[in-house]
Amino acid sequence: MDYKKIIAEDLSTQLSDHLTIDKIYHLLEKPKIEEHGDLAFPTFQLAKVFRKNPAEIAADLSKEFSSEVVSSVKAVGPYLNFYLDKGEVSAEVLGEILSAKENYGASDIGNGKNIPLDMSSPNIAKPMSMGHLRSTVIGNALANIVDKLGYNPIKINYLGDWGTQFGRLITAYKLWGEEEKVRTNPIAELNELYVRFHEELEEEPELESVGREWFRKLEAGDEEAVQLWRWFREESLNEFNTIYERLGITFDSMNGEAFFNDKMDEVVDILTEKELLIEDQGAQVVRLDEYDLQPALIKKQDGATLYITRDIAAALYRKRTYDFDQALYVVGQDQIYHFNQLKAVLNKMGYQWEEDIHHIIFGLISIDGAKMSTRRGKVVLLEDVLNEAVERALLLINEKNPTLSNKEEVAEQVGVGAVLFHDLQHDRRNDFNFNLDEIVQFEGETGPYVQYTRARALSILKKANVDANDFIKDQNYSLTDQYSWPIIKLIQSFSDNLARAHQEFEPSIIAKHALHVAQAFNRFYANIRVLDDHPEKDSRLALVYSVALMLEEDLRILGVQAPDEM
Ligand code: ARG
Repeated sequence: MDYKKIIAEDLSTQLSDHLTIDKIYHLLEKPKIEEHGDLAFPTFQLAKVFRKNPAEIAADLSKEFSSEVVSSVKAVGPYLNFYLDKGEVSAEVLGEILSAKENYGASDIGNGKNIPLDMSSPNIAKPMSMGHLRSTVIGNALANIVDKLGYNPIKINYLGDWGTQFGRLITAYKLWGEEEKVRTNPIAELNELYVRFHEELEEEPELESVGREWFRKLEAGDEEAVQLWRWFREESLNEFNTIYERLGITFDSMNGEAFFNDKMDEVVDILTEKELLIEDQGAQVVRLDEYDLQPALIKKQDGATLYITRDIAAALYRKRTYDFDQALYVVGQDQIYHFNQLKAVLNKMGYQWEEDIHHIIFGLISIDGAKMSTRRGKVVLLEDVLNEAVERALLLINEKNPTLSNKEEVAEQVGVGAVLFHDLQHDRRNDFNFNLDEIVQFEGETGPYVQYTRARALSILKKANVDANDFIKDQNYSLTDQYSWPIIKLIQSFSDNLARAHQEFEPSIIAKHALHVAQAFNRFYANIRVLDDHPEKDSRLALVYSVALMLEEDLRILGVQAPDEM
């Protein structure tokens, strides 16, 4: 229920001559200090029409105001401060979440409209980087967010499985590769071959043209080239899939760059027809001067197409296939220029829908503290990070809950959850440090802290000998103490948070919501003896159960598992 709206309506009985309900609604604000109530209305705007000073206006309004959801109203200077009726509101909010359960906060505002999300999109034959991890988990969380708002998310893994580098890779494999080695350790081996190609290139520059020739063959469908490429792709995908499985993330489409190989002629045709393609030193470009951008290189001298050519084809395909409401591309900020060019080309082609394309950027992760045992070189392998996090989680569990029966399983949920949550709790644009010592902890602002708080709530219910079925939704679970009130308000604000998370494409809003609920709950539990006899005991238990539901739903949206015990 929207209490702000109710108060706006109730205030409007006194103000309808001067302000619309909508205007009143937008003027109502959350007071900065808790003592100033739950909502405040500033009266400055009315001074002119009433020919009174704002403080007088506030005082006058407070005398006449009445509302079922407000227990008291106070005029403080130019502000009118409203105190919601705790008993009334808590009964309403708890009733709602107890009956909706995991559907709490869901809406149909999206009306089933499609939102394709380009996410993860690692490059074949190369290790998945921390950047790809960010893209994967941010994309997955955004998909869950828009899904909850009634849109239809389409998760697309736009694999980097095409491009001149595959000509080089085939060359390297043919010169130095061993089938057996690639089979046992595909990505590491292929990556090594690729690195070696570049090393040998220093001595033997003619390798470059050999590589280019192999890519030309690949684009032309040469059997040997295609067979090798297909094999590299398959082996790489197998490795990526073990990570996706571990993260519990699935995709609706695996159409990567290669899928668009036969769809690029059309792009060139349309560009030619619209007279946008210009020859520049033998290459084909689209000039973008009017956007203050460098020309977009569409076709190289040797006829090879480029990353942007495939992205144009992919955008056309997505618009046609999904008629999207928005198209999201969760890709690092180092590609801002690329997406600016992409949107500019589409705009120049006359496609207004380029405005619905959003490049969802994110910051860089740097790793410190924990000494990561990387398998090779400087690249930190995601798998190693996850393994190390799980190891640490297991140590913690052994220490805190040695009798837990499914320790290994819980350690996996806690370790992986810690990494995912940490990734999602910061504003996505921020760069952040990655320190496993700090994030695999049951205290502090961590994923395990949220998981632990939920498990704790469940154990309280167990101790009280109640379970989910004992909470009847139409019972009046009314709470009046000061510690439950912040929790009630946080639960109540969930759908606002969801809408904002979509508006700003910011999953951290949900992660912060989870942390705030967990913190408020732990303060509540430290101060209120939930298991003691008390007139509000049933309501308190209903609150405990609601917190478990709320945290589970926040975590689910973030893609983090919630173990019942840990
Ligand atoms: N494969 C690219 C990379 O790893 C990311 C692809 C992003 N998506 C896109 N449509 N360009 O850098």
